[in-house]
Amino acid sequence: MKPMTTLLVLVFSSVIALSAQARDKRDYHEALYEEGCKSCHDQGLKNYPSDESCLQCHDMGELAEQTKREGHEAKQNPHDSMHYGQEAPCMECHGEHTKKQAICMDCHNFNYPNFTK
Ligand code: HEC
Ligand code: HEC
Ligand code: HEC
Ligand code: HEC
Repeated sequence: MKPMTTLLVLVFSSVIALSAQARDKRDYHEALYEEGCKSCHDQGLKNYPSDESCLQCHDMGELAEQTKREGHEAKQNPHDSMHYGQEAPCMECHGEHTKKQAICMDCHNFNYPNFTK
């Protein structure tokens, strides 16, 4: 590598390192950061991760089971819901560096006690 290129690479990577430090992380994902940002960011850091990235480690069928509800609340299951079934993209509801609420709350007032904002 030419010296100038090396310098640019160094400057560039420290900018990335800085922006990384400034970002909020979820405690439950702490371990992923040791593997690097790419453990989620399969489409580069300028884009949101794809749903496939989340699905490397999470399974929609299992999630639907974990958040299952009974009776008239059955279709309030965020992972198997009235309008979207199991097809709603994770990031409509879950954030990583930002706080978010489930998209359902735009229109409803359901109780999701285990949701981490
Ligand atoms: C490399 C594996 C991996 C990837 C990729 C990953 N996760 Fe996780 N996630 C985990 C582990 C491990 C936990 C902690 C154990 C658990 O709750 O399942 C977790 C926990 C969670 C939780 C549960 C928080 C709680 O309150 O218990 C949510 C929500 C979550 N992940 C969403 C996502 C989303 C959205 C993505 C994609 C942007 C994603 N995860 C990508 C491994 C991963
Ligand atoms: C429509 C909104 C919505 C979508 C889409 C969604 N989630 Fe969730 N998720 C929630 C809510 C709400 C909870 C908490 C449910 C509760 O409190 O009963 C939750 C809980 C979880 C949990 C914790 C489960 C537990 O054991 O309590 C994980 C892990 C998770 N979601 C991962 C994902 C991943 C990965 C995706 C995409 C494949 C996804 N979610 C898509 C709304 C959503
Ligand atoms: C657990 C998965 C996960 C990991 C690990 C992760 N990110 Fe993210 N990142 C997301 C999600 C989800 C979003 C979508 C916005 C949000 O919810 O914060 C995002 C959004 C971003 C954005 C904004 C993109 C835009 O269009 O606004 C940047 C920049 C970013 N992440 C940088 C990083 C850096 C730097 C690291 C490593 C230190 C990192 N991320 C690690 C999941 C992750
Ligand atoms: C843009 C607004 C909007 C969003 C977002 C939305 N809903 Fe609805 N939902 C409605 C409307 C309007 C109705 C009533 C019309 C009908 O019954 O078809 C309804 C009806 C329902 C019902 C049946 C009535 C009830 O209150 O029990 C359920 C269950 C439901 N939605 C679940 C969800 C879930 C879960 C989400 C998130 C994954 C969600 N909705 C997101 C507008 C919305």
